[in-house]
Amino acid sequence: MEIKYNIEKLEISNWFRKLGDLYYERFGEDDREKEDTSGRKENVNILSPGRVNIIGEHTDYNMGLSITSAIDKYIFISGYKNRKDYVEVFSKYLNDSNKFLIDDIEFKKNVFWVNYIKGVLKEYIQKGHKIGGFNMVIDSSLPIGAGVSSSASLEVGVAKLIEELFNLKVSKRETVELSNSAENNFVGVNCGFMDQFSVAYGKKDYVIFLNFKDLSYEYIPFNLEDNLILIINSKEERNLANTEYNKRRKECSEAVQFISSIIKSKDIVSLSDINSDQLCELENKMPEKLFKRARHVVTENNRVLLAKEYLLKGDIEKLGRILFESHNSLKYDYEVSTDKLDYLVSQLSEIKGVYGARLMGAGFGGSIISIVRKDKIGNISDTLGARFLEKFNNTPDFIECLPSDGTRRVRVNDL
Ligand code: GLA
Repeated sequence: MEIKYNIEKLEISNWFRKLGDLYYERFGEDDREKEDTSGRKENVNILSPGRVNIIGEHTDYNMGLSITSAIDKYIFISGYKNRKDYVEVFSKYLNDSNKFLIDDIEFKKNVFWVNYIKGVLKEYIQKGHKIGGFNMVIDSSLPIGAGVSSSASLEVGVAKLIEELFNLKVSKRETVELSNSAENNFVGVNCGFMDQFSVAYGKKDYVIFLNFKDLSYEYIPFNLEDNLILIINSKEERNLANTEYNKRRKECSEAVQFISSIIKSKDIVSLSDINSDQLCELENKMPEKLFKRARHVVTENNRVLLAKEYLLKGDIEKLGRILFESHNSLKYDYEVSTDKLDYLVSQLSEIKGVYGARLMGAGFGGSIISIVRKDKIGNISDTLGARFLEKFNNTPDFIECLPSDGTRRVRVNDL
């Protein structure tokens, strides 16, 4: 384990050294030497992870529960103040650049990825934080658009970068809130807190048990022993993800209103306030679609509680089984799955060495999460890859990962 961690440190420092060179190529030496005659000052380097959600899907905006984790796949950000009135960014991963004025931040559809950066800056500025111009270069070992929260990773990463560059006094919880507002208010996705929270609060070797009612949380040791988390990216574009996502949120609010008119209680403000007995009574008393949405949320919260119990006992087999159950609920009750995601999960249920699998994130394409035995990875990816290729004429990507620490500043020379 220690050896793996050292290799990871070496890899991280290599990514940042390359990014530092790239920064120098694009932006040249700025005037930072004038401040510091002892040599060139290191850029501010930020390492921001992606996230996996072990279980608890579409529960965050329903004030429910989930068990999530940051992962050891990252967005790397390297930046420095430019003493100008603009921000200039270059993404190596996308091979695209952009420049915009700090006091004229506008949403631009054609360079979508920059909106995540702009949104964060706007939220900080609106809160009264003083931010000047800066340059930054970014790269990624995290697949973009695969349902592993590259957007939250970028948002929290940029938030951390400006906090460090401009000495802003902001708590971790505020960083999460401001990054989340950027996505809701500027980018236009009405997402809950799960992604930004997991990215910011991740802890190596632990998963986070999160209650979205008050954002209280608990770290649970995630002792995978001979197993690991295998993300399988279907590479199916998540075209419907934003519109259908916002639609699901609306349906959940409608369901709450409906239920409150049946069960007259002030205590029911979200679907997570309903218990299993109340749910049974509601069947046939409300529109079927709304009932199914409610059933997913109530049963998913119950599964999260069970998962916590299994994790604490180290019972990976039982944990895996409820991952499959979660998938069925997302497929039949929440209706956010696709043929490709269903195919991946059902094939995995037949392959040796797989404990469980389910679609992960918003759904409508993207990735699934599975928990598998390390020594079976080769066989799993060969078998599944070949079957998927035959059926859909495309091969999925397989990404092994482990729980990691949350977004942080890295001083390359200290690694
Ligand atoms: C997306 C959103 C999250 C969460 C998941 C579904 O990833 O950004 O807030 O709602 O979907 O669980």
